[in-house]
Amino acid sequence: MSRSLLSIDELGADGVHRILELADTMAEVNRRPNPKVPALRGKTVCSVFFEDSTRTRLSFETAAKRLSADTMTFAVSQSSLKKGESLKDTIETIAAMGVDAFVIRHASTGAPWLVDGWTNASVINAGDGWHAHPTQALLDMFTIRTALNRTGGFDGLRVAIVGDIKHSRVARSTTAAFCAMGADVTWVAPRTLLPPVVHQHTTDRLDDIIEDLDVLYLLRMQNERMTEALVPGPREYTARFGLTAARAARLAPHALVMHPGPINRGVEIAVDPAELPGAVITQQVTNGIAVRMAVLFDLLGSESTLSEGTPT
Ligand code: CP
Repeated sequence: MSRSLLSIDELGADGVHRILELADTMAEVNRRPNPKVPALRGKTVCSVFFEDSTRTRLSFETAAKRLSADTMTFAVSQSSLKKGESLKDTIETIAAMGVDAFVIRHASTGAPWLVDGWTNASVINAGDGWHAHPTQALLDMFTIRTALNRTGGFDGLRVAIVGDIKHSRVARSTTAAFCAMGADVTWVAPRTLLPPVVHQHTTDRLDDIIEDLDVLYLLRMQNERMTEALVPGPREYTARFGLTAARAARLAPHALVMHPGPINRGVEIAVDPAELPGAVITQQVTNGIAVRMAVLFDLLGSESTLSEGTPT
């Protein structure tokens, strides 16, 4: 078992299975009146976010607290990085205070691998550049597995990942994860929003496949990562790739609508998600806590500290 979680590929099929099983246990903890267990008492988890985040940062901090770990939050804008201290010196300084796990988000691809080489603590990749976001993929798998009762795997599951795939670490990690579970994944995007290395199944015609889908996974248009205009405009994008009321009416009754958040309302979703029976976007957020508890426990815990009936 690895000391760190950096990508879905490194976690492997056994690791994915282990985390999803653990997440079932953590979801049960989260349904208790007092959703807290002493599983990571004495451990310290430090969040180091160089990019903005609402879901990932707060759910990791909540997950650590529900496992009784101590938490540290590193505020980049108030740190000695501003005085020119290097990332390596910063990580080594925090590690010297006694940290068991770093949760790191960074705009540069590969930064979590560098950090992993500088510390004996566990390192969890909370998103690096356009590259990877493994815990998002895990929580998405957990959400599909739960909502569609797919505990045996995703064989034959028809998934479309729609939108700005070029800039999306979520698309890369979810594609790797869903395919490893046996799903049939199609990328749906204008050519300008596809990466140079193209996935096997790709189309720019969402309307041709929408009725056959089990999962419609919408991505955010990541304007902060675009240096040029890659689509004519949001209205044209919505007309061809957005979830409009007309497209929502063509989804199969069991089909799930997913989005990693944050949503550009009116662009990738032009209907109120709360009115879509298959939307599991809120469940994705809720499941993020159970899955991140599972990841932290997998890296830092031991079975003897997760016995039932030992809530704090
Ligand atoms: N999905 C996701 O990573 O959201 P945040 O940027 O809010 O963490």
